[in-house]
Amino acid sequence: MLMKKIEDICNRQVEREGYSSNLYLSMASWAENNGLSGVAGWIYSQSDEERIHMLKFIKYINERGGKAVMPALKKPAADFKSVEDVFKEVLKHEEFITASINEIVALTLEEKDFNTHNFLQWFVMEQVEEETSVRIVLDKLRLVGKNNMYEFDRDILSLRKPASTAGAIT
Ligand code: FEO
Repeated sequence: MLMKKIEDICNRQVEREGYSSNLYLSMASWAENNGLSGVAGWIYSQSDEERIHMLKFIKYINERGGKAVMPALKKPAADFKSVEDVFKEVLKHEEFITASINEIVALTLEEKDFNTHNFLQWFVMEQVEEETSVRIVLDKLRLVGKNNMYEFDRDILSLRKPASTAGAIT
């Protein structure tokens, strides 16, 4: 049975993963409206992964005898200054999510909830991958140059990590 404080912090993460998915949908939609189909594709895929992360938490909470609660999600920004700003914001957001996961990990150790601790290890590794993949995108953006968005947009999908690492919902 899940301890109440672990259930609550996992539900907090349901909201954060759900917001991540919504935020990235908004960014992808902005890119699509600006003729950047490659950038939009990269971010739409990221949004799908965030939904899977949210589902993993929902299922885990319920399977452990808790109650997953669907949150109201804050409205994300609809406009962005540039592609570089979008990816800088993605990186900042992923760093926030990493800190959030680490906070749950720390609580599970404090409360000796080793089952949840074990469940979280997938997320710990996933955050390393996600931060790395965004940093690679930002590096490529600097290399190609902000004035050559055509090439950057054409090639960005080749930078996506294989879908298999998104993880199945179990
Ligand atoms: Fe689910 Fe990108 O953190």
